[in-house]
Amino acid sequence: EAFDVVVVGSCMTDLVSQTPRLPKAGETIHGHKFFIGFGGKGANQCIQAARLGVKTTMICKVGKDFFGDAYIQNFKDNNVSTDFVWQTSDAATGAASITVNDAGENAIVIVAGANMLLGGDELQKALPAIRKAKVLVCQLEINPQTSLQALQMARDNKVKTVFNPAPAIPDLDYNFYKVSDVFCCNESEAELLTGFSVNNVEGAHRASQELLSRGCGAVILTLGPQGCVVLKAQEKTSTHVPSTAVAAVDTTGAGDSFIGALAFYLAVHPTMTLEEMAGRANQVASVSVQTSGTQTSFPFRQDLPAKLF
Ligand code: RIB
Ligand code: NA
Repeated sequence: EAFDVVVVGSCMTDLVSQTPRLPKAGETIHGHKFFIGFGGKGANQCIQAARLGVKTTMICKVGKDFFGDAYIQNFKDNNVSTDFVWQTSDAATGAASITVNDAGENAIVIVAGANMLLGGDELQKALPAIRKAKVLVCQLEINPQTSLQALQMARDNKVKTVFNPAPAIPDLDYNFYKVSDVFCCNESEAELLTGFSVNNVEGAHRASQELLSRGCGAVILTLGPQGCVVLKAQEKTSTHVPSTAVAAVDTTGAGDSFIGALAFYLAVHPTMTLEEMAGRANQVASVSVQTSGTQTSFPFRQDLPAKLF
């Protein structure tokens, strides 16, 4: 079976508290609401791509527990193939403690659990799907070596690769850049990776030049309400792709909505310019920030203007 978008990555149960502000160290504060949702950057990205209308499969590992069973059902409900979803009794399904303040900003602690047990054996079993994919997407919520190996397998088979170095690690192996057709990160990840400050479009231009020089095919640096900056290897200067302003309720997973949409466009419109894809992905992600939750806020194709397709 052939899938357009293959995601090798994480599944997390999101435990979300809405609070007036983020607590300080040692502090207890009252929140106004608590809910449990399906999250994890890998699964979020896969589900956004699926909701836009491409065939997707997720290569991942969850626990043999209640949350793992529920997650598998969530994939089925969202039309994501579960052929390569493994369950282990050696660790619990990944969990994310998320605090969202009244400004829609968040702070997240993840315990990756079963996600860390996805490895080379599973990738080998999924090789037939990786080979036939149009796009493969990876992040850093699983063992980094597994992500790197998956990206390398895709590259060896001429499958387009999107790498989202999230959450970022300071000494990221340079091989990650070399196997990435599109290297897509946000401001804070770019700061951590480059040591440059990225608090405006100017800073983003400079950081994207540095990231590109490390060997990827293109860089997309997302800037929240300011849209993103796109820089391609064939070009000297980066382009700022602005986004239209919306009232943010919950920005959790907006970056994942963006990357899922980007993977969709790369698979369906491979000749479209990366700037055009990024502009459209900005619009998809901006829908997600206007309602609370992660996957619960990700739009379906029918919720979006036809001109985005
Ligand atoms: O990017 C948002 C995601 O990060 C959340 O769903 C949470 O699970 C964490 O992994
Ligand atoms: Na949201």
